[in-house]
Amino acid sequence: MADPSFRYGVLISGGGSNLQALIDRSADGYIPGRIAVVISNEPRALGVQRAVSAGIATRVIDHREFPDRAAFEKAMADTLDAAQVELVCLAGFMRVLTPWFVRRYQGRLLNIHPALLPAFPGLHVQEKALTSGVRFSGATVHFVTEEIDTGPIVAQAVVPILPGDDVPTLASRILRQEHRLYPLAVRLFAQKRLLLHGRQVVVADHAVDPDAALINPPLEPIA
Ligand code: GRF
Repeated sequence: MADPSFRYGVLISGGGSNLQALIDRSADGYIPGRIAVVISNEPRALGVQRAVSAGIATRVIDHREFPDRAAFEKAMADTLDAAQVELVCLAGFMRVLTPWFVRRYQGRLLNIHPALLPAFPGLHVQEKALTSGVRFSGATVHFVTEEIDTGPIVAQAVVPILPGDDVPTLASRILRQEHRLYPLAVRLFAQKRLLLHGRQVVVADHAVDPDAALINPPLEPIA
C-alpha cells in the first residue's frame, strides 16, 4: 500500500517546527515518502534553515516581490509542479490562498490548525479557547477548501486546558501534539487511505486501526 516514491511539498512562513516533524518522520520511514520542496514566503523564517540543513530543495518566494497574489501563487505552483509533488502541506503558512490555488490542488492540499475545528477558526486561536472556558482544545489537520479552516477533517489531537494555562503554555502543549498529528495525516495520505465522501474523510482500514486518525484519547479496542 505504501508508495516510497511519494513526494510532497511544504509551505511555511515561520519557525517550521511542524516542518521539522515532517522532515524527521519522513527520514525515519514513518511517512513513506519524502519532501521534494519547501517554499517559504518569509526569507528569514527559521524553517528555511531547517529545510536547508536537511538537504531539501528550498525556495524563498517572497510575496512582497510580486505585483499581486495571482503572480505570487503562480510562482509557488510552478515550483511545486516542477518538483512533481502529489501533496502540498501548509505548515504555519501565513498567506491566505486564492480559490485558483486551492482548486488547483483540491484534494491534495492539507493544513494544520491549532484548535479542534470547527471550534476556533482563524487567528488568536489559543486566546479564544482560553476565554471561552472549554476544557479541551487541540489540533486539526484538514483538507483546504476555499473558506478558511472549514475543509474536511483528516485527523485531530485533543489536549486538556489546565488551570493556570496562558496562551504560551497552551500553544506549546498543542504544538507537541501537532508534531505527532501532521506526520500521521501525511502518512495516511501517502498510504492512499484517505477517502473523501462529501465533507467526511473516511480512513480506509479503520476497523483494523480504529484510532488511525486521532490522538488522545485512543478508542477502546473494538470487541
Ligand atoms: C502551528 O501552531 C500551526 O498549527 C499553525 O501555525 C503554527 C506553525 O508553527 N498553522 P511552526 O511554524 O510549525 O512551528
